[in-house]
Amino acid sequence: MIALLRDRSLHLGMALCGLALWASGSLALNGAATEKVREQATRQPGLFSVGVYYYPEQWPRAQWSRDFAAMARLGFRFTHLAEFAWSALEPREGQFDFRWLDEAIAEADRAGLKVILGTPSSAPPAWMGERYPAIYRVDDRGQRHQHGIRAEVSLADPHYQHFVTRIVDAMARRYGHDRRIWGWQLDNEPGTLPDFSAAARQEFQRWLRARYVTIEKLNDAWGGQFWSSDYQNFQQVLLPNATLAAEDKLSPHALLDLARFRADQTARFLESQAATLRRRTTPTQWITTNYTNVATTTDPWRTQGLDFSTFTLYPVQGSNLLGGDSYGIGKPANLMEAAAYYGAPRGVFGIMELQPGQVNWGEVNPQPVPGAIRLWMWHAFASGASFISTYRYRHPLKGSEMFHEGIVGTDGITLSRTGREYVETAGELQALSATLDAAAVMPAEFAARSTGVLWSHDNYWDLEISPQTKLWNTWAQRNDITLAVRTTGAPLTFLGEGDRFEDYPFVVVPAYQSVGRDLVQRWQDYVQRGGHLILTARTGLKDAHGHFPEAAWGASIADLVGADLQGFDMLPASVHHAVRHQDHLHPWQRWADLWIPRSGTETLARFDDGYYRGQAAALYRRLGQGSVTVIGASTEDGHFEREVVREVYRRAGVAIEDLPTGLFLDWRAGVLIASNYQPEPIAPVLPKGWRVDVGVWPPPPAGVTMLRPEDARPARTGP
Ligand code: GAL
Repeated sequence: MIALLRDRSLHLGMALCGLALWASGSLALNGAATEKVREQATRQPGLFSVGVYYYPEQWPRAQWSRDFAAMARLGFRFTHLAEFAWSALEPREGQFDFRWLDEAIAEADRAGLKVILGTPSSAPPAWMGERYPAIYRVDDRGQRHQHGIRAEVSLADPHYQHFVTRIVDAMARRYGHDRRIWGWQLDNEPGTLPDFSAAARQEFQRWLRARYVTIEKLNDAWGGQFWSSDYQNFQQVLLPNATLAAEDKLSPHALLDLARFRADQTARFLESQAATLRRRTTPTQWITTNYTNVATTTDPWRTQGLDFSTFTLYPVQGSNLLGGDSYGIGKPANLMEAAAYYGAPRGVFGIMELQPGQVNWGEVNPQPVPGAIRLWMWHAFASGASFISTYRYRHPLKGSEMFHEGIVGTDGITLSRTGREYVETAGELQALSATLDAAAVMPAEFAARSTGVLWSHDNYWDLEISPQTKLWNTWAQRNDITLAVRTTGAPLTFLGEGDRFEDYPFVVVPAYQSVGRDLVQRWQDYVQRGGHLILTARTGLKDAHGHFPEAAWGASIADLVGADLQGFDMLPASVHHAVRHQDHLHPWQRWADLWIPRSGTETLARFDDGYYRGQAAALYRRLGQGSVTVIGASTEDGHFEREVVREVYRRAGVAIEDLPTGLFLDWRAGVLIASNYQPEPIAPVLPKGWRVDVGVWPPPPAGVTMLRPEDARPARTGP
C-alpha cells in the first residue's frame, strides 16, 4: 500500500535537508511501526488504490458473487467487511458464526479483491443489552440508552470490554494469518458519546487520581475554592454535567479534564483492540481506525499502536463556505486539513470513507455537482492518500440510511451518476499512480514554503469550553489560517508540541490560548535560528494548566512578540468593525487582541473603529535570524489573515503562488495537482516552469488540473 509513504516523507525530508538552515531536518518517520507499514506498503502495486464497503449480512447470499465480481470489474481493488456485523458474527453469547464471513471473504478473493476487516465493537447485539444493560451509556439526564442503534455503548463497562476483547480475539484467531486480509479497521469513527454511568464515573476518578495524586492538587487545578466546588476525596468527584448544572458555569478546568479523560478512554479502547489483534495477526496485516475528519471528542494523536490513521470524509452536507453553488462542491478545508493532520504522525494515511453521492444525515442533503467526486478523489491522491475507500457499494433498501447513495443504485446493478464518476476516477488515478515516481524529490521552491501548523486538542477543548463569545468557533479560525497558508502553494503539516519546529521554515499557531514556558522558549529558539513564526488571535492568555498567570495579559509571549497586550474585544452579532490593512478594510466580529507594540515591532494593520481605532491589529518583528508575526484579529472571511500570512512569506524572501482560497496546489511524486473548490471561474497564474498535462488551466469550478515540469517527458498511459 504505502509505497506512497516514500514519496510523501522522503521528498519533504530531503528537500528540507537541502536548506542550509534546516541542516539536521529530515522529516523522520516515527519508529518501528512506520517501518513496518512502509514494508507492507511496498508490497502493494502502485502508489494508490481504491476500494468499497460491502455488507454481505445485509444482502441475499445469492447476490454476493455477482456483487464482488462487479466491484472488481468496475476497478475496485479491495472491499471492506464486517464492521457492524456483531449480531451475525456472535448470534448468541459466546457462540461465534464465521461461516458466512468465510464465504464472503472467499467470494471477494475469487473476484480478486483484497479485504479490510472491521471489528464490530460499535454495534453490540440485542442479547448483550438484554443480559447486561450496563453495556449502554447513560446520558447527561441519567437515562440509560438501549439497543436499536449503534455506538451507544459505555466504554467503561467491564462486560462490554470483555465482549469486545473476546470477539476481536476470535476474529484474530480466524483471520490473523489469512493472506486475503489486507488490514484491520477498529470500531467505527471512534469517539465516545457522553457517558454518565457509575462505571464511567469510577474510571474518571481513577484517571484523576493518577493525574493529581492528592485531592488538594485536583482542587487547586479546578479552582475548587470558587463557589465551594472543592472535594474532600476522589470518591466524591462527579463527572461534570453541564446539563444538570443550574448555570452554564461549571469549572472550565473540570470540563477540560473530562474532555481529556474521554479522549484517553477512547485511545485506550482502540489500543486494547489493537493489542488483542497483534497477539495473533501476521506482521503483514496492518491496523488502523477510521476517525472522523474533524475529530472533536476524540484526539487521534493520543492513540498509540495503530500503524497509521484513516479518516471519513463527506464534503457535501449543506455548508456553503465559498458562496454560490459551493455547497455542491464541498467544504474546502476538510480534506486538505485532515490529510495534513492524519498524515502527520506517520507520513501515511488513507481515506476510509469518501462520500459516494447524496447522503441522508445532513441538515439538507444536496447532490454533489458533477465533477465534485472526481475533485475529491484527485485531491485525496494529490494530498498523499495511500488509498480511498467509499461507503458503500449498494444503495440500502431498508434501515436507517435509506436515502444514502451507493456506487450502484437501488436495483443493485446500475451505477449511480456519482458512482459512475467514482469508478471512472478510480480507473484514472490507479492508472496514473502506477506511472509516477514514488522516489521523486519535492522541488526546492515548494519545500522552501513548508509550513507546520501547531495543534493541540487540549487547547481546542479549552477554547470551546470558555468561548467568551458565541460567535467564536475554534475550527473556523483554524480553517481560515490553513486556507490562508495554502493560497501560497505551501505544503502544510500539522505538528504537536513535541515535534521539531526546526523542520519547517514557517510555523503557524492558530489560537493557542494555553502556553507553557517551555513552549514559548522553543518558539523563541526556533525564531532565533531562522524560523518564521505566525501567532494568531487568542494566543498566550493562559498557562499550561489553563489558568491565567499572575501577570499582565499575554505576559508569557510579550517579550517574544515585542508588544504588550492591553486586552481584547469582541462584538455583538449585529455589529461589524473593520481592520485596515494596506488600504483594504476587512470586517471582524469574533475576536480582537489589542497589542501595544514596543519599539522595534512593526504594525502591519490597524483597527479602524472604536476607542482603539488606529491601534495595532497585526504585528511583525524580526528576531534573531527569523521573524514573529501576530495576527490580532479573527475576521469574518479570513481575507485579512490571508494577506498577512502572504506578506510573511514574501518578507522571508520565499517565492509564493497567488491562489484563490479553495484552490489547492499539491505536489506528489513529480507532478503538481490543482484541485478547485471555487464555485465561480478563477484566473490564477500557471505556476512557473510547469505545463498542463491533464485538464485545462485554470481548472474550472469543481475541476482538477495536473501539471508536469516543462522539461519532463510526456506521461506513459496506463500502468
Ligand atoms: C459515517 C459512518 C458510516 C455511515 C456514513 C453515512 O459517518 O462512519 O458508518 O453511517 O457515515 O454517510
